[in-house]
Amino acid sequence: MNILILGGGGREHSLAWAVVQNPKCDRLIVAPGNAGIAQIADCAALDIEDGSAVVDFAQAHSIDFVIIGPEAPLAAGVADRLSEAGFLVFGPSAAAAKLEASKAFTKEICAAANAPTAAYGHFSDAASAKAYVQAQGAPIVIKADGLAAGKGVIIAETLAEAEAAIDDMFAGAFGGAGAEVVIEEFMTGEEASFFVLCDGTDVLPIGTAQDHKRVGEGDTGPNTGGMGAYSPAPVLTDAIAQKALERIIKPTMAEMARRGTPYKGVLYAGLMIEDGEPRLVEYNCRFGDPECQVLMMRLGAQAFDLMHACAEDRLAGVRVNWADDHALTVVLAAKGYPGAYEKGTVIRGLRDFSDDSFQMMFHAGTTESGGQITATGGRVLNATARGATLQQARDRAYAQAESVDWPDGFYRSDIGWRAL
Ligand code: AMP
Ligand code: GLY
Repeated sequence: MNILILGGGGREHSLAWAVVQNPKCDRLIVAPGNAGIAQIADCAALDIEDGSAVVDFAQAHSIDFVIIGPEAPLAAGVADRLSEAGFLVFGPSAAAAKLEASKAFTKEICAAANAPTAAYGHFSDAASAKAYVQAQGAPIVIKADGLAAGKGVIIAETLAEAEAAIDDMFAGAFGGAGAEVVIEEFMTGEEASFFVLCDGTDVLPIGTAQDHKRVGEGDTGPNTGGMGAYSPAPVLTDAIAQKALERIIKPTMAEMARRGTPYKGVLYAGLMIEDGEPRLVEYNCRFGDPECQVLMMRLGAQAFDLMHACAEDRLAGVRVNWADDHALTVVLAAKGYPGAYEKGTVIRGLRDFSDDSFQMMFHAGTTESGGQITATGGRVLNATARGATLQQARDRAYAQAESVDWPDGFYRSDIGWRAL
């Protein structure tokens, strides 16, 4: 098969790594890709949010199957355009991707599906939003309704902070994403991520993970896209996962199907777990980054068969071949991230370690020029490893991270602390 993956981050490098190991893959193209992906697949420049451009590209390259990595092309309807043109695609329609693209929509679906989640209000003007927070008290969570690159959530410790956040959002701090605001009860507990595939009818769990969102050691400092992750998440026991499946995920999928917008693709449920009970924090309509890297490390080549079965509505007959293993990834980021950082700094030592089925350096923001690998993003590399225990996976991942010669980069030294 000729396969096209859309995206160019660490998530897409790990997807590409799993796909090329599968004998069904004859040719893999990744658009736009990065310097690491270029070592295992062809990379192509393409505007991946432009549905007609993607369809033209897929036709010109005789593509049999398209895997969409990030949320922006999904929200822009690229999966719809590809399906209409007759291509097999892994990734939900724009209507189904609203589960990530609109927080108010998700809350409404949860209410209809009776899925446990935080109590909420939904507002399109500041005065009624402020009246609601006055009535509820602090702490309270203020969210821009739309996609805000992971930045549209403010946990307000005081009423003054909540009101300031409301003013900021309606003043356009998050652009169009903040034209409507969702205000939620602050939930306590431990967070974990649950990944399932859905083909519109059946749901297949493919793994759990936990990430570290804060930039600093001990989970302190500003939020990032994620500084590291590990799988499985010990807090998400089989019993709690089963509850999440039966009470949250399956009812949501049934409600989406009932509305005529069945969900097909990977669904990433962010859960808050307290006293053995899971509640939904949010849905994402894609793999997490860096959570995908640890899931792919554990699933290997079968990840391709699972995504292919999902796209062909064949999940009912599919089993995941689980190994009793653990994976962990450490993100190497440019100094300054998530604030301003320098671009174009040179990374050395990357070719010195062996990549195999137990360890892999996934690239995110890298470019190759003149035989050198340079950093061109905030999150740049993912030192990822698998082991019989989490400790073994962690030791291998950190050995990789330490061997990179990149004075302009940094990483957290405590990824996995909660689980170890
Ligand atoms: P979201 O973009 O909705 O995932 O929110 C980002 C992060 O904010 C989540 O991963 C949680 O850590 C936190 N968060 C969001 N909603 C709540 C809530 N209702 N209660 C507590 N924490 C929350
Ligand atoms: N690592 C969090 C996310 O991908 O949304």
